[in-house]
Amino acid sequence: MSRLIIVSNRLPVTIGKKEGGELFYHPSAGGLATGLNSLDDSINKIWIGWPGKDIRDEWEQEAVRKDLLDQDLVPVFLSKKEIKLYYEGFSNKTIWPHFHYFTQFTTYDESSWDAYKAVNRKFAEVVIPHIQPGDMVWVHDYQLLLVPEMIRQAHPNISIGFFLHIPFPSYEVFRILPWREQLLNGILGADQIGFHTFGYMRHFLSAAYRITGHEHSVGMLSVNNRAVNVDVFPMGIDYEKYAHTDPDPQDEEVRKIRDLAKRISLVISIDRLDYTKGIPTRLQAFERFLETSVDQHGKVTLVLIVVPSRSNVDQYQELKHQVDELVGSINGRFGSFDWTPVRYFYRSLNFSELTGLYKAAHIAMITPLRDGMNLVAKEFVASKEENKQGVLILSEMAGAANELTEAIMVNPQDIQGMADALQRALDMPVADQERRLKSMQSKLKIYNVEHWANTFLTDQQNFMKQQEKQNISRMEDQQLDEIYQAFRQAQKRLIILDYDGTLMDFKPDPQAVVPDDKLIHLLKSLKASPQTKLIVNSGRDRDTLQEWLGPLDIDMAAEHGVWIKRKGEWALNPGLASDWKSEIRDVLENMVERTPGSFIEEKDFSIAWHYRRIDKEFGEKRVREFRDVLLYLTANLDLQVLEGNKVVEIKNAGVNKGKATLNWVDEENWDFIMALGDDHTDEDTFKALPDHAYTIKVGLSNSVAKYNVLSVQEVRQLLDRFTKID
Ligand code: UDP
Ligand code: G6P
Repeated sequence: MSRLIIVSNRLPVTIGKKEGGELFYHPSAGGLATGLNSLDDSINKIWIGWPGKDIRDEWEQEAVRKDLLDQDLVPVFLSKKEIKLYYEGFSNKTIWPHFHYFTQFTTYDESSWDAYKAVNRKFAEVVIPHIQPGDMVWVHDYQLLLVPEMIRQAHPNISIGFFLHIPFPSYEVFRILPWREQLLNGILGADQIGFHTFGYMRHFLSAAYRITGHEHSVGMLSVNNRAVNVDVFPMGIDYEKYAHTDPDPQDEEVRKIRDLAKRISLVISIDRLDYTKGIPTRLQAFERFLETSVDQHGKVTLVLIVVPSRSNVDQYQELKHQVDELVGSINGRFGSFDWTPVRYFYRSLNFSELTGLYKAAHIAMITPLRDGMNLVAKEFVASKEENKQGVLILSEMAGAANELTEAIMVNPQDIQGMADALQRALDMPVADQERRLKSMQSKLKIYNVEHWANTFLTDQQNFMKQQEKQNISRMEDQQLDEIYQAFRQAQKRLIILDYDGTLMDFKPDPQAVVPDDKLIHLLKSLKASPQTKLIVNSGRDRDTLQEWLGPLDIDMAAEHGVWIKRKGEWALNPGLASDWKSEIRDVLENMVERTPGSFIEEKDFSIAWHYRRIDKEFGEKRVREFRDVLLYLTANLDLQVLEGNKVVEIKNAGVNKGKATLNWVDEENWDFIMALGDDHTDEDTFKALPDHAYTIKVGLSNSVAKYNVLSVQEVRQLLDRFTKID
């Protein structure tokens, strides 16, 4: 039976050690662990991760392994050094601050990076032996960015998902990291990559394109012959649990909270102690509120729950001091014998206390400076299911702000704005509170954590099935065998090859796509096959083709058939004009001027504007802008405007690769014809050939060709086989 293998840095339980050395287990804090842990039990799953404590003793490790196995948890033990360099170091001093735009806290430390790689490898090595055919692996979060690729290397066909629980920063910030390319390649090992918001997804796609060159089409990328799906899956909560579980009535703390809420308006603030959460600015806003709303003194209390987190990382220790001081200063300044403005707790809460607080609170003030999602905001809203009273003040910078649109939205750096929001929340009529809560609750009920996981998993399953279907049109070994046999048996063979994107991969500079030695050798061997005519049919200019492939002494078509080389001589397609070019050139020069990085390529009978070195979107925008001008200028001139892959080409109408091909097709009674090409201009070739021809498209997009192969490497392997015919 197929299973889900969840892999995350932290397991949903953390080990603690009592004073006598006895181990105990407690639930882990943080959105990832709490969210994923509330997944439906019906999913057959195991969860692999770090149990949160340095356990060195092998006996102890074995005991932990056994304990955890009962809950389908598999521990990955980390040494003190690994915790320091991988967890506290690269994960929480490099990626965490950087991805949350705290670049002033980012450290660039080679040894932490080495440890990060090594520990990611360690995780992958624990996962790999657990994988059985049909399983799906789901890797989580920023601590394990390299793991998808590592698992892919061991199991090329296994279904791998990846989810990032924190923001993905804009390209301008991400590019600063020296290890940016390795990190992206690590993530791109997955089949499906999920983010909480469209903004994070957009940033990721932009970085993937600009740094690794993988372009996307509606969120789909092609990476080393594999399709990768990138999408948005906002994580939800276990709605029913927060809506309908009552706090433990025996719990003394909960009773005290309730009593307090009867006397006073409770504003709650609950986060891990983290500089991304905006705790100091929130305190400053509360202080500002107290300064200006003297009438509220004694009537409002801020319950500040700060959950200890990553306490060995220096920035977290500094933040602790800052929060301690701010709380002390506010209480010292405004407190009275019967009123404490800020009730401050530096500890984690159990579930009963947490829901007790959510239910009793009048206002939740959740104002992170950056937050991937923020589940506390959602839990607070769900906890108000029964009484429908309460106001959420939420930062625009939390991922949850995209869904919880009825909250009072604040800029977490705007102290006055937050103080005003607090006043607004206190003044909000009950009917308004109810309307806003209902609207948010109706969304959270549907888009709960189960929905999140199911959508991710079913999308991935469907995506994998789709890929399998796609693969059907990909050439299979058996089909290749058939073509190979037909080639063997034929007496007169014609092979027509496009150049760029078929024999050679694209490069930003078209003049850099010089054929490599292997290709020259391959073409020589093909040409040497008995009764075989080899043609290169390209859009490139004659001089370049002659320089690069001339010595092979094969027939060629240049500029989509403007020039034809046969028996060693180049000849011009008769009846072509080129006097139109100067007028068009002026327009293209204007496009270049307005689009730095683009350039003009002028051929004898055509002229092209290339934008392969710049942003695809930017280039396409220019094409849209100039399309009408170009069509207007070419209307009466028997010219055509061709929009290709990052190029717009203007050339004489009636010239195309298909017509060029006929120069050879009609020459003989070929009993074997095969054509390969990647571009839409090659479609003309495929269409011009007789039915019995083998037409092969490079890439997976739509084509009239009979077969698809994925890449230049596959083309070369295929051709190589044809050279080995006896
Ligand atoms: N939480 C907890 N113990 C506490 C306080 C909070 O386990 O004492 C939980 C809370 O219920 C929520 C999670 O920790 O599910 C925090 O997730 P969030 O997305 O708000 O922030 P993160 O910690 O992931 O940055
Ligand atoms: C955030 C991260 C999680 C992490 C959690 C708690 O939610 O996205 O990956 O587990 O914080 O942090 P910790 O360092 O204690 O695991």
